[in-house]
Amino acid sequence: MVIGVPTEIMDGERRVAATPDTVKRMVQDGHQVLVQSGAGLGSFQSDELYEEAGATIMDDVEDLFAKADVILKVKEPLFNETLGKHEADLMREGQILITFIHPASPANHELVRTLAKNGVTAITLDGIPRITRAQSMDALTSMSTCAGYKGMLMAASSLPKFVPMIVTAVGMIQPIKTLVIGAGVAGLQALATAKRLGAICHAADIRPDAVEQAASLGAKTLDLGVPVEEAVGEGGYAKKLSKERILQEREIIAGILPEIDVLFLSALIPGKQAPILITEEMVQLMKPGSVIIDISIDQGGNCAITPPGSADLKHGVTIVGIKNIPGLIPTSSTWMFAQNIYNLLKVVVPTVDTVDVSDEIVQSALTTYQGEIVHQGTLEAMNAEG
Ligand code: NAI
Repeated sequence: MVIGVPTEIMDGERRVAATPDTVKRMVQDGHQVLVQSGAGLGSFQSDELYEEAGATIMDDVEDLFAKADVILKVKEPLFNETLGKHEADLMREGQILITFIHPASPANHELVRTLAKNGVTAITLDGIPRITRAQSMDALTSMSTCAGYKGMLMAASSLPKFVPMIVTAVGMIQPIKTLVIGAGVAGLQALATAKRLGAICHAADIRPDAVEQAASLGAKTLDLGVPVEEAVGEGGYAKKLSKERILQEREIIAGILPEIDVLFLSALIPGKQAPILITEEMVQLMKPGSVIIDISIDQGGNCAITPPGSADLKHGVTIVGIKNIPGLIPTSSTWMFAQNIYNLLKVVVPTVDTVDVSDEIVQSALTTYQGEIVHQGTLEAMNAEG
């Protein structure tokens, strides 16, 4: 099997889909690995390191796409300005693509149609189910871990004050208070990071399991008063709340906002728009100088006035809606991502030329196959669009 690893072309993307370590293991497994020259530079991994691991370094990315049986990427295929061609059009029938596609999102429907038309076997990493066997392949979880950690550090460095309690000769400085809403993978990592920095932590979630985990990290938890049958659905995931429940939740959150220095927003229902839990009026309840980090911005954001893709000062509050936070810690995020992809590859490609479509993990992540769009969520989203 020939595995190709191109350089990511999205603006500011510093991650890459393989490290010298995973290349070495792929080579030991009997594969040939082609890496585009400079692909690892954003995460401080030189061509020489990849070469020592057994990769062939290639300058010509079109040639790399043409020779590979499997393409490993971080981001969905994009238009390559240098070549004047779309990456999806560099791919051919039967070729396997493993990357984040977010195929249900209307912005990617045309791309998914092109991949199907070109006969590509596309596997999307956001389709990996959160089941025990797939944990080591779950890149979404890895990236949420990165976003929770780095997002909280961004909050700390945007604050105009110390985070921990500090005793000085002129008096004691009180620790800051943070509230994390949505204590899933990202939110729990944000709480753990805030705790290490010395903040007083509060957390809110609608799932009792998440509340329990937040409490075990030392956070004080808010009771949102949502009955479990309204909060938890199939597979233990959160459910979309009614309008009345959202209003009730906003009221409870508003009660604590005047005390909060850092508001970390990571509430999400899989496959849905993020719920708006913070209105513009609620932002005005916060102290001047406080910070909101809204990491659900890719799904529309949990705060109504988060600037998508940037940071802004509104009503005296710094609101951060920066996307691709894992790309800001490229060494760690690449390391985790590459391990996830390597583990997934072993399930996807059991023999040289067959994709194991009977496997539950592959079934759930398969997006296009043999010229058809096969991803259920995508088909539903396309039908809804008309
Ligand atoms: P997750 O599904 O593990 O956690 C989401 C949590 O939100 C769940 O615990 C759920 O119960 C909770 N929730 C849902 N509705 C709620 C409500 N009304 N009130 C309170 N809690 C509610 O998701 P994960 O992996 O932690 O991701 C969280 C967000 O972070 C997602 O929007 C994801 O796309 C985003 N993310 C952003 C990145 C970035 O660079 N900006 C990178 C990685 C993830």
